[in-house]
Amino acid sequence: MLEAQSMTMISRRDLLIGAGAGLIGAPAILRAQQLFTAFPFRLGIASGDPSHDGFVIWTRLCPDPFDEHGGMPTAPVDVDWVVYEDEAMRRVAQKGVERAWPELGHSIHVEISGLQPDRPYWYRFMVGREKTVLGRTRTMPLPGKPLAHIRFGVAGCQHYEDGYFTAFDHLSREDVAFVWHYGDYIYEDRARQVNYGRDGSPRVHVRDHVGTDCYTIGDYRRRYAQYKMDPDLQSAHLAAPWFTTFDDHEVVDNWTATTSPYQSRPELAAIRRAAAMQAYYEHMPLRRSSMPTGGSMQLYRRAQFGDLLKAHFLDTRQYRSAQPCTGSFEPICAGVADPRPTVLGDAQEAWLREGLSAKDSHWNLIAQQVMMMPLDRRTGAGPAELRNMDSWGGYDAARERLLGSLDGLGNIVVMTGDEHQNFAGELRRDAGRGKAVAVELVTTSISSGGNQWIKPEAARYIKAANPFLRYSSDRRGYVLCDVTPTRWQASFRGVDQITARGGAISTLATATIEHGRPALRIS
Ligand SMILES: [Fe+2]
Repeated sequence: MLEAQSMTMISRRDLLIGAGAGLIGAPAILRAQQLFTAFPFRLGIASGDPSHDGFVIWTRLCPDPFDEHGGMPTAPVDVDWVVYEDEAMRRVAQKGVERAWPELGHSIHVEISGLQPDRPYWYRFMVGREKTVLGRTRTMPLPGKPLAHIRFGVAGCQHYEDGYFTAFDHLSREDVAFVWHYGDYIYEDRARQVNYGRDGSPRVHVRDHVGTDCYTIGDYRRRYAQYKMDPDLQSAHLAAPWFTTFDDHEVVDNWTATTSPYQSRPELAAIRRAAAMQAYYEHMPLRRSSMPTGGSMQLYRRAQFGDLLKAHFLDTRQYRSAQPCTGSFEPICAGVADPRPTVLGDAQEAWLREGLSAKDSHWNLIAQQVMMMPLDRRTGAGPAELRNMDSWGGYDAARERLLGSLDGLGNIVVMTGDEHQNFAGELRRDAGRGKAVAVELVTTSISSGGNQWIKPEAARYIKAANPFLRYSSDRRGYVLCDVTPTRWQASFRGVDQITARGGAISTLATATIEHGRPALRIS
């Protein structure tokens, strides 16, 4: 039934475009002769959400990335995949066929299980005569098994127009078990012909977004296609499995559960959000449990690595109350202290508390998006404390409630994105004045913000005004974490410039956290 229906939808042109081995119902003789008009795997391949016995492998058939349907016929297409035990592709671990559906933009998410724990695997896809390059991924150590060390990378915030993704090229050469991408995988805005920095001066604009502001599924698909054709981004995906979470720009700047700053009608914001979430799912190596339904998706999830590290990947957008005040960098208004607003929502908050109480790993990573330290943002003398109302700094009651549940655990590291700068400091109760209960490490952007650096005197002022803040720096890059049972080391890796290709990477600083002590040492 399915095959008969599909055949009626496939035109002669579609057959020429379509994959030889893939078009459902096409006679074998035709399948062998057909070719795509262009390479169908131009968006690369990826793996993600690794467990101890498997992972997801991802690709999307898209021979014409800026076409409404990616250059694909509106028909399902079968794609072959293989997972190998060795890089030379001599030993096949598993193989199969996955159907790429037009409803999902011909993206494919294959959930592999039944593999050996804690070892690398390699994978690729084939359709007709077309083959992808070989990707490297790995399974994770068995939960509970003694583990001496794990290394992982953290990255996010990659505005395409602000610079090259050179940092991803460097990240692809680091030997990491996994990468966590904290969010802002795309930016939803149209091409900015004139681009201004923080101080209002024009800044270098290295390349343009294709298309206008994203509203429909077609807009978001085109934006992901443009980003995913970036070779540095593809390299980083090829090298390791990723856990991905979204922040705001995968949908629209500063959205929350009920609000969008640029749309006063919530039912219209919900339509845009549904399109954005579908496109996010289509382009990330996520499990089927994260497939969107009814305009929402299950993104918060956990992963455990031996007895060493348990990661709680949070979603600080989908369930969040509207920002207080006007939602930007501004003096504290009454709404900041309101006990009712939430960042995580009741269900996620309870889920996190329960996960932290299990005490079955040396360390807990709380992997989330917006800064938890209630930073005073004044960069010079000013009459009143300024907070970023789109961070936990706008939600005092929710932050204090969460910090209360961390008190006494001594093994919590909160990691954060969003800021386009590095920050490291202690998470202290009572709005930063009380007892330290955890450490927060904020990872800078891959490219957002470009080459423009914060002025040194402004950085010094922020540090002096916030005693819990121990470190900040302003270069594009990523963070590498090396975790052992007794020590957590985070290296802030920065590139010297991103407006020309080939920027050099270096370690700007290292933060060290000893197990049992919510404090950090910077070297
Ligand atoms: Fe960002």
